[in-house]
Amino acid sequence: MDVREEVAADRDAVRTVIEAAFGGTAEAGLVDALRRDGDVEISLVAVDGDAVVGHILLSRMTAPVRALGLAPVSVMPNRQGRGVGSRLIEDGLTQAKARGWEAVFVLGEPDYYSRFGFRTDSAEVFASPFAGPYFMARELVDGALEGRHGDVGYAPAFDALE
Ligand SMILES: CC(C)(COP(=O)(O)OP(=O)(O)OC[C@H]1O[C@@H](n2cnc3c(N)ncnc32)[C@H](O)[C@@H]1OP(=O)(O)O)[C@@H](O)C(=O)NCCC(=O)NCCS
Repeated sequence: MDVREEVAADRDAVRTVIEAAFGGTAEAGLVDALRRDGDVEISLVAVDGDAVVGHILLSRMTAPVRALGLAPVSVMPNRQGRGVGSRLIEDGLTQAKARGWEAVFVLGEPDYYSRFGFRTDSAEVFASPFAGPYFMARELVDGALEGRHGDVGYAPAFDALE
């Protein structure tokens, strides 16, 4: 299994993966809207041979630090539980840091995302429509979130999901 940047030719396969993972079309629509709006910063696919088996996207946020929002992450149901999602998240975080981003926010299951260093207490001082027990943050640069507070906003395409 390899993880690489998404290219235009992957888009139909990426949609198939997202719809299969979430069992609906909302998240694939979100990805289309983020692309249309030019808010995608990182979009990676996990490939096994020619088959796209996973996808992750990180989009630009408005925040007091240079921050990206991680969403969605999707793995083909018959490939879940074998490390594909972990590899996508780790590679996404590595790329984000390499590109000079300071923090990543995510809305998700704390039990899962805590293993990648995301913490609810890092996010709770930031105001967001998504604030709550599932809203987490992870510094990419040590101390980037220390003493910071204020509004954190996802890209406009997320408004449809609020
Ligand atoms: C969440 C998801 C991306 C994880 O991908 P994956 O390839 O199955 O994950 P990995 O194999 O790297 O990790 C599997 C581990 O994550 C755990 N896990 C998966 N989903 C979880 C969840 N929602 N809550 C808690 N733990 C979860 C599994 O129990 C497993 O734990 P273990 O390592 O202790 O056995 C994948 O299950 C998926 O596409 N789910 C549907 C879409 C979704 O909910 N995306 C996340 C929100 S954006």
